[in-house]
Parts: sequence; structure tokens; C-alpha cells
Amino acid sequence: MSRPAVLITRVVPDSVTARLASACDIDLYTGADAIPGDELRARLAGKQALMCLLTDRIDAGVLDAAQGLLIVANIAVGFDNIDRAAARARGIVITNTPDVLTEATADLTWGLMLAVMRRIPEGERLLRRGEWKGWALDFLLGSDLRHKQLGIVGFGRIGRAVAARAGAFGMRVVYTTLDADSPGPECAGHTRGTFDEVLATSDVVSFHVPLMPETRHLINRRTLARMKRGAYLVNTSRGPVVDEDALAWALREGLIGGAALDVYEREPVVHPELLALENVVLAPHIGSATVETRTAMADLAARNVLAVLSGRAPLTPIPPG
Ligand code: GLV
Repeated sequence: MSRPAVLITRVVPDSVTARLASACDIDLYTGADAIPGDELRARLAGKQALMCLLTDRIDAGVLDAAQGLLIVANIAVGFDNIDRAAARARGIVITNTPDVLTEATADLTWGLMLAVMRRIPEGERLLRRGEWKGWALDFLLGSDLRHKQLGIVGFGRIGRAVAARAGAFGMRVVYTTLDADSPGPECAGHTRGTFDEVLATSDVVSFHVPLMPETRHLINRRTLARMKRGAYLVNTSRGPVVDEDALAWALREGLIGGAALDVYEREPVVHPELLALENVVLAPHIGSATVETRTAMADLAARNVLAVLSGRAPLTPIPPG
């Protein structure tokens, strides 16, 4: 009997291909950039499984390219790149990679928070330009983290992991959650508030929501205007959660003190006004980018593929759309 076949849209660690090779034939796309749509559809023909990235748009046309496709295993926790309704209509399982990237993403969130509040990238740029004149009492003053309030929007795994680190910096946490399965008013010693309360009272607001119609442009001119004057905004979730035009406006008007972003509305394009501002820290979507975490993500995707191909339940299915 012929073995099932999997298309992988990016080179993954050898340990992961070895795991898959024990039970399937592998078609590995080795291009340096995201696989072009037409090549994705062409190579998917005859495959039972697809392991893909958040940069691959998986729509009905792609899903129809493989008659008999059983699983799309996204190597990401987010899955807004996949048409869930189309997958459900075709009986195709979709999986993501939760848990394994939680801590790395929470660490990066704190890195961004420190970077913007303590003006680290701004200082490094100045130093590399040869403009540092030496220590001065009033030079490059940022903001303390201690005794400040961290507002967390979205209190799933990553939001909670970010909150768990707050005590080490002497910050208190107020969180809000947009889903129905929300934790109670107190969760792990943190206070729950409404979205409006989090915006209006926090010194830093960090976003940890999935991208859905309800969260697209959650941060816009109106919600930015609700933020405490001089507060910082951090986004490591998905770019379109923030209306970048509105963010540029709020920074220009001095409504907020700064922003730190890992994700963008039109990746890899970054809003030109944000690029030009000193009080904006810009990371290139590296929330989960550690060797250990990316290996664990690819491995989890592979284990999902193997489970489904052998007729077992996937380990980390995402709910059908
Ligand atoms: C990264 O953004 C992910 O969704 O895993």
C-alpha cells in the first residue's frame, strides 16, 4: 500500500523530517521565500497532509487542489491565514501549535516592553551614530516599570504568561478578555477589568488576542484616545489588531508615550510614519523565534500530521470556523 504524502512549505529541522519520514513521503519546498500560490496548489495535488506557515494563505482554492487532503497543520498558534469554514465544509482537520511557543512569546513581549520604556533601541541607534557624549543625569530618560500597571488584552495562554512575569518587575496587572470562556474577576492574583478600564488606567497595554473580525482594528482612533496619556502600547499578537494609521496619529499627537510592535498590518511592509519615529520599537515578527521553540512548533505540527494520517485524533485541533 502506498504511503501517505505530506507537503511542507518550508525547511524544518531534520529531527522533524525524520519523524515524518518514518510514516510518509515528504515533498519539501526549499525556496527562500514563501511558496508562491500556484506552486502550492500544484504541489498539493495527491497529498494527504499539508504542513504550512502563517505566511501561506490557505483558502478554498488551495484546499481543493488536493483531493483527499486530511489535515492542514499550521506551524503557528495563530490560524487567521486559513479559511476555517472552507476546511470544515471539506472535512479537513486544521491544527495549530499552542503551548510550545507561549513562553518565548511572553519573553519577547517583555523584551519589547523594556525596550520601549527604557528607550534601548533609541540609545543604541544614537550610540552607533557616534552621537553619545557620555553619561549625563538627564540623558535618555525612560520610564520605570516598577509600581506601574500592565494592562493585558486577551488572557489566554500567552496573556497569562506575560502576566506571570509582571511580579518580577514590580508591576500590577489588570486584564480583560474578549471571549465567553473568560476567567473570573481574579485570576492568579490579577484583577479583571473591562477593555475600557484597561485602556484608561494602564501604563502599558499589551495585546494577546487572536485576529478575528471582532479584534480587527480593536485599537483605533477612538480606543487610542481612551488610553492614559503617555502610556505605551505593545502588540505581539497580529498586526491588524492595531489600525496603524490611527497609531501613527496618536503618536504624532503625543497621546501615548510610545509603542512596541512585533506584528504589522501588511507584513513585511511597515507603516512609514512608524518607521520614522524614535519612540516606536519595531521587531520583525519574531515572537516565537528561538531555536528551541521553532523546533518544538514544527515537531508538534508533524505529530498532528502523523496522528491524523494514522486515524487518530489530532493533538491540537483548532475549533472549526
Ligand atoms: C506567530 O505569530 C504564531 O501565530 O505562531
